[in-house]
Amino acid sequence: MKKILIAVLLLTAVLLAACGGGQSAEPTALATVPSEYAGKTNPLGADAVAAGADVFNTNCASCHGPQGHGDGPAGAALDPAPKNLAELQAIAGDDYLYWRIATGKEGTSMVAWLGVLTEEQIWQAVAFIRTLK
Ligand code: HEC
Repeated sequence: MKKILIAVLLLTAVLLAACGGGQSAEPTALATVPSEYAGKTNPLGADAVAAGADVFNTNCASCHGPQGHGDGPAGAALDPAPKNLAELQAIAGDDYLYWRIATGKEGTSMVAWLGVLTEEQIWQAVAFIRTLK
């Protein structure tokens, strides 16, 4: 009887471990951009980068860090931590970046910036984020 119990416990542990392993791949996949925002591209050119740097330093660097690496002083205690935007911009489209900045990210400290910033200022910030390495 004891042996069966141990076998059942072991089997349960193996199954739980297998399920947990399957989930770990998910956070790296980007969310789908809502249709309202999907396909948007930055209407501003590279000359928006300087203005974007101002917007970023004033509003975003405290959490995301001056180079967007997610290491700003105000972000240190946050869970989840502010995203590394240099890494994100390498895999995310303009529409994804604009959508996230405009509407924020539920369940995190990332608030919606549209209203605080104008549409143009958000696109300026996106232009600056594109320069991050
Ligand atoms: C109070 C700290 C804070 C400030 C200020 C802040 N952010 Fe964030 N930001 C976060 C956090 C926390 C997340 C969520 C990270 C996660 O989900 O892993 C986030 C997420 C993001 C994302 C989306 C990341 C993703 O994975 O989808 C973008 C883009 C972004 N921020 C850009 C900005 C920009 C641009 C500004 C300035 C206009 C800004 N943030 C200001 C904390 C902040």
